[in-house]
Amino acid sequence: MELTVKTTLPPATRSDCLVVGVFERRKLSAAAQELDAALGGRLTALLKHGDLDGKEGTHLLLPEAGDLPARRLLLVGCGKEKDFDTRRYRKALRTAVSALKKIHVREAVNYLPDLPVQDRSLPWRIRIAAETIQQADYRFDRLKSEKDKPPALKKMTLNVIDKARLNQARQALAIGNAIAGGANFARELGNLPGNVCTPAYLAGTARKTLRAFPNMNVRVLKQKDIEALKMGAFLSVARGSRQPPHLIVVEYRGAARDSRPVALVGKGITFDSGGISIKPSAAMDEMKFDMCGAAGVLGTMHMLGELQPPINVVAVVPTCENMPDGNANKPGDIVTSLSGQTIEVLNTDAEGRLILCDALTYTERFKPKAVIDVATLTGACVIALGKHPAGLLGNDEALIRQILDAGEQADDRAWQLPLWEEYQDQLKSNFADMANIGGREAGAITAACFLARFTKKLKWAHLDIAGVAWESGSKKGATGRPVALLSQYLLEQCGKRYRLE
Ligand code: BES
Ligand code: MN
Ligand code: ZN
Repeated sequence: MELTVKTTLPPATRSDCLVVGVFERRKLSAAAQELDAALGGRLTALLKHGDLDGKEGTHLLLPEAGDLPARRLLLVGCGKEKDFDTRRYRKALRTAVSALKKIHVREAVNYLPDLPVQDRSLPWRIRIAAETIQQADYRFDRLKSEKDKPPALKKMTLNVIDKARLNQARQALAIGNAIAGGANFARELGNLPGNVCTPAYLAGTARKTLRAFPNMNVRVLKQKDIEALKMGAFLSVARGSRQPPHLIVVEYRGAARDSRPVALVGKGITFDSGGISIKPSAAMDEMKFDMCGAAGVLGTMHMLGELQPPINVVAVVPTCENMPDGNANKPGDIVTSLSGQTIEVLNTDAEGRLILCDALTYTERFKPKAVIDVATLTGACVIALGKHPAGLLGNDEALIRQILDAGEQADDRAWQLPLWEEYQDQLKSNFADMANIGGREAGAITAACFLARFTKKLKWAHLDIAGVAWESGSKKGATGRPVALLSQYLLEQCGKRYRLE
C-alpha cells in the first residue's frame, strides 16, 4: 500500500474515508471532536444511541458524511484512553485496515497516528503505523487458483498534527515501510511450502531479490564448497535429503570498509521431518516454517537494501532439509564440525544446532563485532515462554541488553533465559566431544549451550523464535518476526536519523 504523511484538518479533508479514534466510554478523540462539531453533534448523538462505545476491536462505519468533503467516516474503538498503549494502538490500526478492506474504499486518511500512545514518540507512532498497516495488507494467495478479489484500498495518508514535524515523520515512514517490506518478504518465504521453498529456491530467491539492491553482495556456496570447507555437522543433516544444501552469504556494506560487520545467522531448514528420529504426524506441516530464522535474516537484509543505512552486516544462512533416508544421520552417529569438535547425534531431530554450529564458526572469518543467530530451534522454548517473546541467550550481557531494548522499542520482544555453565553437563557424551541433545530439562537452554561451544571467540546472542515465527490455527502463517527486532537493533547503531526519538 502506498503510505504518505500529511497535515490535514479532518472537517476540510476530501477523502474516500477518514479514520478517527473513539475511546471508551464514548470519548471522541481530537479529530473525531472536530468532525462532530462540523456535523452539528451527529457523532455524539450516534454514540449516545449506543452505536459505538469505544471498546477495543470495535468500529463503526458511517457510509456518508453529510456536507463534509469526505465521503465516509470510520470510527475505531480504542479502549480506555488511559490504557492506550502499544498493543491497543496496533490493534486499532489493524481494525481500521480490516474494515477498510471490506468496503470499496480506494484511499483513506488515518488520524489514529495522532493519538498519544503511552511512552511512545511521534516517529515511533508513524513507524509502527507503517509496519502494522503494511503487514495487515499482506495476503498469501499465490498458490490458490481462485484469488480473492484484491481490496480496493491502495493509498493511505497518516496524519501528523504538527506540521513542523512532517520531515521527521517522513523519515520514520520510510523506515517503517522498509521494515514491513523485509518482514513481508520473510513471511512470503515462510509461507511457501517445502516443495516450493527448497534450499535451492531459498538461495535463488535470496540472490535474485537481494542483489538488486546497491551495496549488497550475495554468494551461494554449493554442496562441493561446503564439503571443501569441512562443515561436517551441516552436511550430515543435508545427507538425508534429495535436495542439496546451500550456504547463502549476503554482505551489505553501508559503512566504511574497515568497520567491523554485525553477523546474522539464520536457520534454514526448509522442512524438518525430524529425520530418522521422525516427528509425530500431527501438525508436521508446520515444519515448513523451520526456515523462518533464515527468512528473518534475509528479510532484515531486504530492509537494509531498501534503507541503505551506514552499517556493515553479513548474513550467513545454512539451508537444507531434514529427512529420513538411507543416507541420513542415525542416532549415535558421530560427526565432525567445522570447528573440529565432534558431535554425537543422539537425536536427528535436533538438527538446527548442527547446521548452525558450522555457520557460526564460519562467521569468524568476517571478524564480526557481534553475531546473532536466529532459529526456530526448540519446542521447549515455546513451552517455557509461549508465543509472545522470542527466547534470548548469549555470552555478552551488553549485547543481550541491546537486543532486549530493541525488541521493546520495535514491539517485537525477546526474553532472556540463563545460559549458565551448570547446564553444560547435560551435553556430555561418552563417545564424542558432546551430544547434540541435553535431555528433557531446560531444552531451550541446552540447545543454546550447544551453540555456545562454537561461539567462544565471538560476542554472540541466540534468538529462539520457535514460538513467534508463525501462528497456528485459523490464522496459520508466518509472522515476519523477528525482522522488526533485528532492524531496530541494527538501526540503533546508525545514528540519530534512524532512531525512534
Ligand atoms: N524445528 C524444531 C523445533 C520446533 C519444534 C519448533 C516445534 C517449533 C515447534 C527443532 O528442529 C526440533 O525438532 N527440536 C527438538 C529438539 C529435541 C530433539 C532436543 C524439539 O524441540 O523437540
Ligand atoms: Mn528438528
Ligand atoms: Zn528444526
